[in-house]
Amino acid sequence: MYIIETDKLTKKFNNFTAVDGLDLKIEEGGLFGLLGPNGAGKSTTMYMLSTILEPTSGSAKVNGFDVQKEAEEVRKSIGIVFQDHTLDDRLNAYDNLDIHGRLYGIPGPKRAQRIKEVLELVDLQDWARQLVRVFSGGMKRRLEIARGLLQTPKLLFMDEPTLGLDPQTRRHIWEYIQKLRGEGVSIVLSTHYLEEADFLCDKVAIIDHGKIVALDTPANLKNRVQGSFIQIDCPEPQKLLNVIGKSKTVSHANAKITGTLLSFGTPDPAHAIPLLMKLADKAGIKVDSIETHKPSLEDVFIHYTGRSIREEKGSGMEEFARRMHARRT
Ligand SMILES: Nc1ncnc2c1ncn2[C@@H]1O[C@H](COP(=O)(O)OP(=O)(O)OP(=O)(O)O)[C@@H](O)[C@H]1O
Ligand SMILES: [Mg+2]
Repeated sequence: MYIIETDKLTKKFNNFTAVDGLDLKIEEGGLFGLLGPNGAGKSTTMYMLSTILEPTSGSAKVNGFDVQKEAEEVRKSIGIVFQDHTLDDRLNAYDNLDIHGRLYGIPGPKRAQRIKEVLELVDLQDWARQLVRVFSGGMKRRLEIARGLLQTPKLLFMDEPTLGLDPQTRRHIWEYIQKLRGEGVSIVLSTHYLEEADFLCDKVAIIDHGKIVALDTPANLKNRVQGSFIQIDCPEPQKLLNVIGKSKTVSHANAKITGTLLSFGTPDPAHAIPLLMKLADKAGIKVDSIETHKPSLEDVFIHYTGRSIREEKGSGMEEFARRMHARRT
């Protein structure tokens, strides 16, 4: 069974199409990433899948339940992690979770037990009685994650879970996310951090203008961008390039020399490197080092959308949090 299955899922705001006929099938038990630039429709997709927004047309099933006809069942089977300002700063960590547990109708003793478990999961057990106001950004996010897990969801939505956190805290959050996956929770996360998508996700959908432009494992996506890159550090890069050019045995696209570095794209570096070494050796050219790198998800992103994802974030997330909060209270 697919944990998420959408059929031409569409959301229009007046004449503007934010999500455009999305056909998506997500298997159970993995970590699925929605990657896209500002305004691509990631949050809107998540809003519809988590029943916060009604689709304009098309349909979606989450955990086998229809998001429109069986919204209550969908809501009970999912968890959502959103921005930290939906926590109540005036309450302590325990009470924030307790209120949420009550909203979800988790009975008293079970609720207390579950709160203890989720606080331990995110290493906040010693902070249960501290006001959230004194928490750091990373601690708040961990509490958010704990709250999203309170009702033991089969599927957890995380909209930009590490937005605005420092690299160390982000890595810390990644550890929790991986831990959850290890426990069998299916996770859908949106991110505009390419390395996050690459490192964490089993599969990634690149979304642009409300449409999926590519969907695959990060490795396969990167393989779709032609070639790899070779960088050679040597004292005579121009001489080496001339030798390579004459021999015609190593294909070398877009060769570039920067200082002592010669770099170019080539389809098969494992094949090219021994040939290169032989050519350099024969010509008496010293080579200090050779490095290769595959295309990154950034290269993939540019390939499909024609622009870089490294842009500042808009406020889509705040709107999500507001809506979610309004729905729950
Ligand atoms: N309530 C709304 N009314 C009108 N337009 C909206 C509304 N919500 C979203 N949009 C528009 O729909 C598009 C998709 O927004 P969405 O928040 O889903 O993008 P996103 O991929 O999550 O972007 P970001 O990376 O900035 O969070 C944007 O152009 C946005 O301005
Ligand atoms: Mg968003």
